[in-house]
Amino acid sequence: MSRGAVLVTGGAGYVGSHACKALALAGFTPVTFDNFSTGNRWAVRFGPLEPGDILDLAALHLAFKRHRPIAVMHFAGAALVGESMREPALYWRQNLAGTLNLVEACRIHDVGAFVFSSTCAVYGTPERVPIDEDTPKAPINPYGASKLAVERLLADAAMAHGLRFAALRYFNAAGADPEGELGEHRPVETHLIPLLLDAILGLRPPLQVLGTDYPTPDGTAIRDYVHVADLAVAHVRALEHLLAGGDSLACNLGTGEGHSVRQVIEAAERITGRPVPRVEAPRRPGDPPRLVADPGLARDRFRLLPSNVAGLERILETAWAWHACHRARRLAGG
Ligand SMILES: NC(=O)c1ccc[n+]([C@@H]2O[C@H](COP(=O)([O-])OP(=O)(O)OC[C@H]3O[C@@H](n4cnc5c(N)ncnc54)[C@H](O)[C@@H]3O)[C@@H](O)[C@H]2O)c1
Repeated sequence: MSRGAVLVTGGAGYVGSHACKALALAGFTPVTFDNFSTGNRWAVRFGPLEPGDILDLAALHLAFKRHRPIAVMHFAGAALVGESMREPALYWRQNLAGTLNLVEACRIHDVGAFVFSSTCAVYGTPERVPIDEDTPKAPINPYGASKLAVERLLADAAMAHGLRFAALRYFNAAGADPEGELGEHRPVETHLIPLLLDAILGLRPPLQVLGTDYPTPDGTAIRDYVHVADLAVAHVRALEHLLAGGDSLACNLGTGEGHSVRQVIEAAERITGRPVPRVEAPRRPGDPPRLVADPGLARDRFRLLPSNVAGLERILETAWAWHACHRARRLAGG
């Protein structure tokens, strides 16, 4: 018997589809609500689908009425930093207005638990790493600013209507489903690992190494790569925490380990046994030199054991397994 339906906005996307699988494994029924702007129909395989847009309040009401969810996991949104600099209104509409609709629907349909995809972009360019949750929030692009505004909206809804929420600030989600069912596949790709695997497979031009003059040991930017399956488990734990009456919170989801672009390339070459075609290019505006999480709060609250956290090797192994097997076929529409 199901432990209850969970409305998963963006459940056809990269992180959302992995969360649906984890929800189903934990006994919940994930109901994907998605407009397929960047998501994939083939990734919806663990529960019912409600095609729809979070900007469409009537469609949301219908989905709530039909499935009577006990909670919401909210992944849907616009998530390209560069695009947010060019089209800020799109980001405020998708991320803030879309979430306003969802919060409103939760109030009307009496849904009290809300897990939200936030981001380390709320911290901007922090003065020190690792970044803990007390680090000042100073986003440097509309994407991060819109996510921070949603956190504030959720805090207000918590105060006024008793909504309980977990805002999960991911660092760099990476890797693929260890069983090979799901992987990273978007119409516009900006993430390092899928870009470099595509370059290896000849599916796109050489990888651009964006910035080789950062104040880091090898001159390239350092990020905290967290396995998407570990993120999915953390979402289920956050949900269980809220359903058990736990307090609202905002917390980091990262590993505490940083890897430079050059280190990721070297590891990818070792694991795939193939060279990564690449060219050096200038920095991308707005990319901080180093973003690494202090993951302590989430580990403590959600009982996540550091020994169960996948490292870079595992991330690359699973991403490569999915990419080598499925990426070309998916690009061809298969
Ligand atoms: N991938 C990362 O490294 C990362 C890091 C930090 C935060 N996040 C956040 O996590 C969430 C998921 O990211 P992802 O990498 O899986 O992205 P994604 O693009 O793969 O998934 C987003 C999903 O939302 C759907 N969607 C978008 N707008 C919608 C709308 N208006 N109505 C209904 N559905 C809509 C898309 O079709 C897609 O299925 C995003 O909110 C993103 O900001 C991701």
